Amino acid sequence: MAKRKKDRERDYALGRVIAIVNDKGGVGKTSLAANLAGQFAGADYRSLLIDLNRQANLADDLGYRNATFDDQGAGLLNSFLAGTPLTPALDVRPQLDVVCGGGRLEDLTPIMISRVQHHGRTAFRALGDVLAPIASDYEVVFIDCPPESTILSDLALAAARWVLMPTKSDVGGLVGMALVAERFSLAREINPRLGLLGVVLFATGTRSRAIHGEARTAIDEAFGGNSPRFQTTIRHAERTAQDARRLGKLAHELEIEVAAQPAWWEALRSDIRAPRVSPTAASVAGDYRDLGVEVLAALQSAEETERLETAGRAGRRPRSR
Ligand SMILES: Nc1ncnc2c1ncn2[C@@H]1O[C@H](COP(=O)(O)OP(=O)(O)O)[C@@H](O)[C@H]1O
Ligand SMILES: [Mg+2]
Repeated sequence: MAKRKKDRERDYALGRVIAIVNDKGGVGKTSLAANLAGQFAGADYRSLLIDLNRQANLADDLGYRNATFDDQGAGLLNSFLAGTPLTPALDVRPQLDVVCGGGRLEDLTPIMISRVQHHGRTAFRALGDVLAPIASDYEVVFIDCPPESTILSDLALAAARWVLMPTKSDVGGLVGMALVAERFSLAREINPRLGLLGVVLFATGTRSRAIHGEARTAIDEAFGGNSPRFQTTIRHAERTAQDARRLGKLAHELEIEVAAQPAWWEALRSDIRAPRVSPTAASVAGDYRDLGVEVLAALQSAEETERLETAGRAGRRPRSR
């Protein structure tokens, strides 16, 4: 009984953990994690970002590489070893805390291999175990998963309530998705609450309906016909992506820079040679805002359905077999 109560508390705490997953690199996982968390935090939702990448690209997107709190994943690794709650870096942005990734995460793989040998696949619950005690401090938690690292992504899938999957609409992107679908099914054996929140088409460079239609069919096939897709797509905007990593700023922060920078002719006249921020940032920020609204609506709708189902079950008489 005590165990069941503990499990319920864990489930509740992890109820808004969203793993951003795709085995393929370069499909927008890190950009989505940073910008969605940034949007939620900007809208005053307490937000947590967890970086499971050895390259720690989030540090570039959020501009904290080499900051004193950038521990290269050491904090995460230590929590893991000791079984103690995660200790995020606080206020990387107002309302946004971050558990940093980096090279120290290398050590997680051999540790997990050994644990799985001894305890089976339930060992993957370890990330959820160290996250649950702090997760209820947050209204939303995003996990930025690495490409092609089954073990680290499996940890995320075992901790998360939701999967959000960015994909590109090219063939390569769609093949990666089938692999995620397989891993998703496997993860549900130890984390039955895991659900697919939705798929996001990322930097597709096209608004062609035919291509989006093809992508939808492939997504449906991969996830057995049960594959919500977000309406919003994130537009292809290379210069904005470059500005973001060069300046360590999110799209909506670049949008503010764009508004503040002098007009190009003024810059010319006064001989200012600083690189200019591409005005497309405003449109990209708008895409992330629209997506944030959709993500929140999807969360709230799923939570409402679950609440009604739970209430319905509690009110119903047990069925005889
Ligand atoms: N809207 C965009 N349009 C074009 N390229 C983008 C856009 N947003 C990000 N990028 C770039 O695409 C590449 C992959 O994005 P990233 O988020 O790092 O993907 P992943 O985490 O899946 O590897 C990066 O070089 C990034 O700067
Ligand atoms: Mg990444």
